[in-house]
Amino acid sequence: MTVSELIQHARRARLRARAPYSNFLVGAALQARNGKVWTGCNIENATYGLTVCAERVAVWKAISAGASNFRRIAVVADTERLTPPCGACRQILWEYCGDLEVILANLHGERATYRLAKLLPSPFDDRLL
Ligand code: THU
Repeated sequence: MTVSELIQHARRARLRARAPYSNFLVGAALQARNGKVWTGCNIENATYGLTVCAERVAVWKAISAGASNFRRIAVVADTERLTPPCGACRQILWEYCGDLEVILANLHGERATYRLAKLLPSPFDDRLL
């Protein structure tokens, strides 16, 4: 699968976002090394604090289906400046996906790729326990 195809998965997932409070729709597509793709969208809640980001929904879906060994994740939002994962999602991605590729894209076809280690320097993880 090409990066463009993975972004397409994230774009489609974004359309399923439940974001009535922020109107900020996000889609994510997490690809395992075996090629399988797990998508997520943000799901908001009237309490606000129980909102879950698109990236975490994708991770939870993948892990709960037994997947492991992830290669990359695409994140799509309708913004001029590309939307990176929030701090909580960076921590979760690090724990369950390691130093994967993070591809950010918007609806105008702009994109950028980072390693998660660059987005989350000096992480807290089980090596410190
Ligand atoms: N959000 C995501 O789903 N992923 C991100 O990378 C940034 C933020 C969601 C959370 C909330 O529903 C909305 O975007 C506004 O913060």
